Amino acid sequence: MATHWEEFYSSHLPPIDFEDNRKLLQEFCERHNENNEKIVLITSGGTTVPLEHNTVRFVDNFSAGTRGAASAEYFLEHGYVTIFMHRLKSLEPFTRHFNGQKFMDMLDLNERGPNTTITVRPDGVDVLAPILSRYKAAQDNGRILYVNFTTVSDYFWLLRAVCECLAQFGARALLYLAAAVSDFYVPANQIPTHKMQSGGGPPNIQLQLVPKLLAPLVSLWVPLAFVVSFKLETDESILISKSRDALNKYKHKLVVGNMLQTRRTKVVFVTPDNNYELILSREQVHNGMEIEEIIVSNVVANHLDYIKIQKY
Ligand code: PMT
Repeated sequence: MATHWEEFYSSHLPPIDFEDNRKLLQEFCERHNENNEKIVLITSGGTTVPLEHNTVRFVDNFSAGTRGAASAEYFLEHGYVTIFMHRLKSLEPFTRHFNGQKFMDMLDLNERGPNTTITVRPDGVDVLAPILSRYKAAQDNGRILYVNFTTVSDYFWLLRAVCECLAQFGARALLYLAAAVSDFYVPANQIPTHKMQSGGGPPNIQLQLVPKLLAPLVSLWVPLAFVVSFKLETDESILISKSRDALNKYKHKLVVGNMLQTRRTKVVFVTPDNNYELILSREQVHNGMEIEEIIVSNVVANHLDYIKIQKY
């Protein structure tokens, strides 16, 4: 009998750019595996649930992709090659620093007809240069691959394809599942082809449970990898118990618990042996430090210990 997650794949078609992405992933992973690199998959941003095939309306997930985009920069600094699997148009590493008008405000325009030039203001150079230098290093050396999803079904197809490529890395693969994945959806065979019309009265939309991919991911697809999932709650009293439930159920290595309201300054690491908090002090926040810097260095330390154990 097909499991819940197998049924999901058999009833949802892959996204149109799926084969292109699969080739890119295979090439990227083979090249870096030959060099014995450590690799991280970061999932980032929220998935959508379409309510029509020709989608005008959809259910969305709140995530901006801040956690994933910031973490990608720190993993690159720690020497990991990085697959950044993100929601289209959510935040991306490096460019995230220049959202809105920030980038335009760093530039001066010298209009001289065909000899018009654009220069970066001196204070802009101080901001841009270190970020541009890290961006170029990652890009020019082919150390980061960007792939994107929009719907929960895109996410499913892409995540499995990434795992198929990561399996060859064994314990050197780290999965850092920070995306906010829809827990509820409307199956493809139950949504209309065209835009719903209000003349038909209020629609009766029946949401169903999305299968948790962590189950096949941990037990079948990448059984040797170091898998980190995230748990978001809004009620602090259940955060640790829900995180531990997830760890017990899926048998992966680490759950990073966070509260919606305090996720920028505090997280809790729940491991098979214990739990401990990572908190940014007021001073660290004031100095512009990001919590992802300490999350990533702690995850990396745990992953390196795990690799050592696997070797013996
Ligand atoms: O992007 P930001 O605004 O910075 O916010 C970051 C964040 C709060 C989104 C992030 O830190 C976070 O907590 N992400 C997980 C949020 C979540 O909703 O998790 P969940 O309870 O739906 O799922 C738990 C884990 O199971 C996740 O790692 C998820 O990848 C995985 N999952 C979820 C659904 C599903 N069908 N299959 C899965 O494997």
